Amino acid sequence: MAETKKLLRELAGEVQEIPPIWMMRQAGRYLPEYRATRAQAGDFLSLCYNPELAAEVTLQPIRRYGFDAAILFADILLVPQALGADLWFVTGEGPRLSTITQQSDFDVLKPVEDIHETLSPVYETVRILSKELPAETTLIGFAGAPWTVATYMIAGRGTPDQGPAHALREENNVLFEALLERITLATIEYLSAQIEAGAEVVKIFDSWAGSLKGDAFQKYAVEPCRVITQAIKARHPGIPVIGFPREAGEGYVGFAKATGVDCVALDNSVAPDWAAAHVQVDGCVQGNLASSHMVTGGQALVDETRRIVEAFSKGPHIFNLGHGITPDADPENVQLMIDTVRGR
Ligand code: CP3
Repeated sequence: MAETKKLLRELAGEVQEIPPIWMMRQAGRYLPEYRATRAQAGDFLSLCYNPELAAEVTLQPIRRYGFDAAILFADILLVPQALGADLWFVTGEGPRLSTITQQSDFDVLKPVEDIHETLSPVYETVRILSKELPAETTLIGFAGAPWTVATYMIAGRGTPDQGPAHALREENNVLFEALLERITLATIEYLSAQIEAGAEVVKIFDSWAGSLKGDAFQKYAVEPCRVITQAIKARHPGIPVIGFPREAGEGYVGFAKATGVDCVALDNSVAPDWAAAHVQVDGCVQGNLASSHMVTGGQALVDETRRIVEAFSKGPHIFNLGHGITPDADPENVQLMIDTVRGR
């Protein structure tokens, strides 16, 4: 039977007149219904580990907007937690974790085969979603890329320049690489389990890839993404992989070929015309409207949305933001973006 889901068709290389659309962080604090369900769950992590409520918030933006894809509601930092790191969220600030600065911090981490004990509620969320999503909606699973996850595990928090992770990489490269290896293997198992539960596409978020330069980008952004993609493709032939080496700049060029991903997600620092000529030549791209337009709206939103759709119209393209939508966004601007993409 011919594929009918718009997102899967585009990922297979088809150029549809209207590109499929979804949005990073589409289930999130800008939506009143999300805030209500999060309050019901108690806190963010309780929401992530509550399959019924996590499925509910995943479905909310699908009901409201009819996006072509739903992304599993979870977080990239659940993998460190499953490996034994302490994890908590400070309201208004962000994540906090126990740190990894020396060999003894690494030695107490759990083996990869133990992660499912913590992560099994996430697989249950995927199972619920694959039953409840509309037939035309694609279900995307995800994980953080090893480098990005390691930056949080090393520093114990988000950092502006990933300084602590770069320092460990230089000062104790053996430990740094052992950590990356553990995360890489855990990520393969985690994504495989999501696929077995019903995820139809997986996305690898390397939010901090931009701070890796030259050889370090090849070794710690490209290579882990290649290893994960190859393992997923060997175990689950036909499952598309989206890679997101955020802020990679020139590093986007050749990324799909070097890693084997089916689609490269672009942040909004790259110009659509440039990316069409240098990245989309190798296959599907996703992106890349600045998420600030979801706050400011108006004619600028419409013009920029049209410019992006036009720039990528000659090859496969999934419309998305360049990064996650922010809590101060106006839900009506999301509708305006969708209507513009769909030509209404
Ligand atoms: O996109 C989606 O709707 C799916 C769910 C999703 C979340 N986080 C939910 C979330 C996904 C795919 C992520 C990925 C994620 N998480 C990344 C990579 C993408 C990116 O944004 O660069 C990173 C770096 C994280 C780690 C993380 N989680 C941080 C730094 C924070 C705090 C910052 C913030 O926005 O508050 C989170 C919390 C988080 N993850 C929220 C959501 C909806 C907000 C939590 C809340 O409800 O209070």
